[in-house]
Amino acid sequence: SIYWVQGEFWPKEEIRVSPDDRGYLFGDGVYEMFRVYGGKLYEPKLHFERLERSAAGIRIPMPYSADELHERLRELIRRNNLQEGTVYIQITRGTAPRNHLFPKDSAPVTMAYCNELKRPLAQMEAGIRAVTVNDIRWLHCDYKTLNLLPNVLAKQEAVDRGGDDAILHRGEVVTECSASNVMIVSQGRLITHPANHLILHGVTRAVTLRLAAAAGIPVEERTFTLDELRAAEEVFQTGTTIEVMPVVMIDGQRVGDGQPGPVTRRLQKHFEATLG
Ligand code: PDD
Repeated sequence: SIYWVQGEFWPKEEIRVSPDDRGYLFGDGVYEMFRVYGGKLYEPKLHFERLERSAAGIRIPMPYSADELHERLRELIRRNNLQEGTVYIQITRGTAPRNHLFPKDSAPVTMAYCNELKRPLAQMEAGIRAVTVNDIRWLHCDYKTLNLLPNVLAKQEAVDRGGDDAILHRGEVVTECSASNVMIVSQGRLITHPANHLILHGVTRAVTLRLAAAAGIPVEERTFTLDELRAAEEVFQTGTTIEVMPVVMIDGQRVGDGQPGPVTRRLQKHFEATLG
C-alpha cells in the first residue's frame, strides 16, 4: 500500500522513520482517524478542525493547511484505490536527540496511510458487551494525542474480562470508551458527557446529537453516573469505525432487556442515511 510521508508518496516498504522521532520516543504528536465511504472522507471539516485544535493544544505548528491536507488525503485514497475504509494521519513534533525540551530546529513529521475496512454490520445488529474500567488518563482527553497507553490498557482489560470494550469512569462519572464516546437513554432522553477536557469530542458524537435533535429526541449533554449507566434503558457507543454501536451487556448484566433498543435503532438508521 502507498503511504504519504513528509510530503511524498511511498510504498510502505520504502519508508524510513528515524528512531529519534519524538512520536516514537515520547508519544509527542497528534493524530486523526477518518472514515472513508464511497471513496470520500466522511465529515472532513470536523476532523481537520479537531486536528488543528489538538496540534495547537500541544503546541505543534501545523505543517499544512486543512485544504492542503484534504487534497493530499484525496490523492492517498486515489492512489490506494480505496472505496470503503479509514485514513490515519499523524503529526509528530519532529526528530531530535532525546530531550524533553522542545527541539529548536526540527520540523513536524507527517505520515498518513489508509486501510480497507467494512462497516461492522453484524456487531451493529447484535450489540457488544462492555465492562467498566477506571479512567486513568490525563486532563486533556480532548486532544487526540499519540499517548494512548491508558486506552490500550483499558481495551485489553475489557477483553481479558470477557467483554468487547471498556466504558471508562472517573469516580462515579462515566466519561467515554477506549476509542469511542458513550451515550445512554434514560426515560426517553439521550444523555452523554459534555464536550469538555475529560473526553474526546467525537465527530460521530456530534453527528449523532445533531441527528437526535432533528428526530425530536430530547438531548442532555451532562455528566451521568455508573448507577445511571446500569439503570439505563439503552446504551450505545459512537465512533468513526463503529458508527452507532449498541451495548447490550455491562459487567455481565443486561442493558434493558438485553437487545438493542428503539432509540439506538432509530439513530443507526438516521446515521446510515448520512452516508450518501
Ligand atoms: N478513536 N473517544 C476516544 C478516546 C477516541 O479515541 C475516539 C476515536 C472517539 C470517537 O471519536 P470519533 O467519533 O471522532 O471517531 C472517542 C479513533 C477512531 C481511534 O483512535 O482509532
